[in-house]
Amino acid sequence: MDLSHRTVLVVGGTSGIGRELARRFATAGSTVAVGGRNSRALAELAEEGFGTFEVDVTDGSSVAAARNTVLARYPGLDTVVTMSGVMLMEDLRDPAHFEAARATIDTNLLGTIRVIDAFTPHLVGRGAGTFVTVTSGIAFLPFPPMPSYAA
Ligand SMILES: NC(=O)c1ccc[n+]([C@@H]2O[C@H](COP(=O)([O-])OP(=O)(O)OC[C@H]3O[C@@H](n4cnc5c(N)ncnc54)[C@H](OP(=O)(O)O)[C@@H]3O)[C@@H](O)[C@H]2O)c1
Repeated sequence: MDLSHRTVLVVGGTSGIGRELARRFATAGSTVAVGGRNSRALAELAEEGFGTFEVDVTDGSSVAAARNTVLARYPGLDTVVTMSGVMLMEDLRDPAHFEAARATIDTNLLGTIRVIDAFTPHLVGRGAGTFVTVTSGIAFLPFPPMPSYAA
């Protein structure tokens, strides 16, 4: 994928892989916005020159508000990376694992779908665009401590 000449939003770009990917896009010449919940990380990224947006992907109204703000500032947005995710351990012998399962599905699966649904009309409307989603090797190799994450 050509990382240059893009206008890209990395949702889940406040740490880890997303933060470094945002820097890669920027270094290659793209215009980059970053979304997440961590206000301190967002402030640091704003100082680096990124557009920054608060968003909680488990909250549809937060995603819609972020979408509106991002598109007002970047009407030429052509790429959305859905990097946000949690990696929670679960012990299936303890029914209390359900809360971790719920958080995992709400963030990693439904959160991704919320973000994609929010930006699909914009990308369809401009006639072209790219979504970059994220998976894990744990989807392919059994890893009992993270069953919902694997699913
Ligand atoms: N690390 C690995 O070995 C690995 C391997 C394969 C795939 N992955 C996947 O790659 C992605 C990034 O992993 P990482 O290791 O870089 O993790 P990380 O450092 O923990 O980053 C996770 C990112 O997701 C964001 N996030 C979490 N919950 C969110 C929410 N409710 N709303 C908005 N943003 C949320 C966090 O931002 P805030 O805290 O600011 O909200 C953060 O930017 C994850 O989806 C992970 O499952 C990781």
